Amino acid sequence: MKITVLTLFKNVFDDYLQSSIIKRAIEKQKVEIKIVDFRAYSTLSNKQVDDYQYGGGAGMVLMLEPIVKAIRDNGNDAYKILLTPSGKTLQQDFVKELSTTHKHIMLICGHYEGFDERIKNYVDACVSIGDYVLTGGELPALVIIDSITRLIDDVINNESLTSESFNDGLLDHPVYTKPVEFEGHKVPEVLLSGNHQKIKAYRQEQRIIQTKLNRPDLYEQYKKANKGE
Ligand code: 6GU
Repeated sequence: MKITVLTLFKNVFDDYLQSSIIKRAIEKQKVEIKIVDFRAYSTLSNKQVDDYQYGGGAGMVLMLEPIVKAIRDNGNDAYKILLTPSGKTLQQDFVKELSTTHKHIMLICGHYEGFDERIKNYVDACVSIGDYVLTGGELPALVIIDSITRLIDDVINNESLTSESFNDGLLDHPVYTKPVEFEGHKVPEVLLSGNHQKIKAYRQEQRIIQTKLNRPDLYEQYKKANKGE
């Protein structure tokens, strides 16, 4: 899997991509990540990439030319994702699809007031990571890189992936480690029982309780899909 990022803030990516699981995935050549500064594609003498918006209004708009040039020069064959708060909200199902369907994904990070709308003629999807506004697409790009990379075969333990949140429409169950008691807070007895069937049932029940509590929207969907349970 190759991921190319078009950004004006290249150095934002360095630290995160050199950490932990992502670093290992890069070293094991499970994923190849290329960060491109699209300011280099500006044809203006001052390397300008943004300008005032037609019709008036506050904020600068990213011009088409440098981005389109950067797209063409860095793999027009890639599945191209524009990062924008007005895109479709990222969900685990889409992350899964991305991790299995494409050889090359391009993530395009905006800034300022946004992209010239006509950029949509040059991309395959517009994606947001949630209902809040960020100053730019760099954090969303890292979120997508991280969420895709951990799903690539042999990047992390397969078993960790099957029981995690969102996999069957429920959040994950709580987990505990040593000590058995900390400042009066105890690990649930059943987890110490050694009875695997009971533990499994307890964890599934906890997943339902957590989902109902924190994500009533997911819980309603789950109930509909599992009528009679
Ligand atoms: Cl993709 N971009 C920006 N600027 N803000 C966001 C976002 C993206 N997703 C949520 N908020």
